[in-house]
Amino acid sequence: MKMYTGFSNYDEINIENRKKAVENEVKQWSTQKELFKEYRAEWNKAANENYLPLKPLHVDIELSDACNLKCEMCAHGLGTVKNVGFMKDDLTYKMIDEVAAIGAYSIKFNWRGESALNPILPHAIKYAKEKGILEVSINTNGLPKKKDLLIEAAKSGIDRIIFSVDGFSAETFETIRVGGNYEKLISNINDLLEWKKENNSTKPFVRVQMVRSNKNAHEVDEFIEFWQEKVDDVRISDVMDRGQGSHLSVGDKVTIGRRRCPQPFQRLIIARDGRVSPCCADWNQKYIVGDVFKESLKDIWNGKRMNKMRTIQNNVELDKIDICKNCYVKESFIWQNN
Ligand SMILES: C[S@@+](CC[C@H](N)C(=O)[O-])C[C@H]1O[C@@H](n2cnc3c(N)ncnc32)[C@H](O)[C@@H]1O
Ligand code: SF4
Repeated sequence: MKMYTGFSNYDEINIENRKKAVENEVKQWSTQKELFKEYRAEWNKAANENYLPLKPLHVDIELSDACNLKCEMCAHGLGTVKNVGFMKDDLTYKMIDEVAAIGAYSIKFNWRGESALNPILPHAIKYAKEKGILEVSINTNGLPKKKDLLIEAAKSGIDRIIFSVDGFSAETFETIRVGGNYEKLISNINDLLEWKKENNSTKPFVRVQMVRSNKNAHEVDEFIEFWQEKVDDVRISDVMDRGQGSHLSVGDKVTIGRRRCPQPFQRLIIARDGRVSPCCADWNQKYIVGDVFKESLKDIWNGKRMNKMRTIQNNVELDKIDICKNCYVKESFIWQNN
């Protein structure tokens, strides 16, 4: 078994695991392969070329900005997230209708919090699938209060579930994911994998991911070895400074410049209060591009604020907008090994 020690280039870890993930994706999308390919091709074109799709390709709908954990690298752990709650049910359904009408390929039902706390999740998934959304997904800490909520999500037709598992040992996990219970998480993931097997289902595509920091980097090898045979995809991504400073970073990579960020060309983010942000880094809602109570998603996508951001991105003048200047999205930086 190859061991990934040294971490001189952790991307190699991801590349190796991507091969298997792509094979699994192809299996999963057997009946809608062409549409999925079209979606991914447009996604990559928006990232890598001077191309603006006619519609957002993906929309994040934030079902909850509340969370039951306080992870040390997250704003919830830092205590900087205030006045949290769930998106109102009628707004959730209205947003799914609009995303379907605009023709976006994909919805992820979360942003800053834990959506599996909101009991609407399985109903929202079912509704979105009935409306023809190609890919419906969530990121989750895997610890919903309602037992079996993730199985219900699977039964409702969710296409992809990304579990955040930031350690291999219970001790490391629970130090990072404060308030989390490792044993319970493993049992919840196993239950979902068992459900897939029993139902002979390739869906949901299951990814397990680790945000690598200096608290868990020593467990990356074991983490990959343990998960790669069990799930469809294993990812390692590096901790970013989301307001906590750089004390958690491993420090083997440094940024040497900025580059055009793909996000304003690919997606919109609808916060639980109905205000819209252009990218996932706008945690404090400082660059609002619209309000779904006042404008359509189409008008927001083509609006002045979105286009202003795209211009500064195309010109790589990221210092001109505060959220871009202070951003943590790794795709907006040029990296070099340290
Ligand atoms: C904010 S969480 C929301 C969804 C869900 N509660 C979860 O934990 O997966 C989305 C993702 O951001 C990651 N994340 C949180 N803080 C981070 C940081 N400082 N750097 C990189 N990723 C981070 C989490 O590990 C998770 O994978
Ligand atoms: S579970 Fe997710 S949203 Fe909650 S504190 Fe951890 S990273 Fe943040």
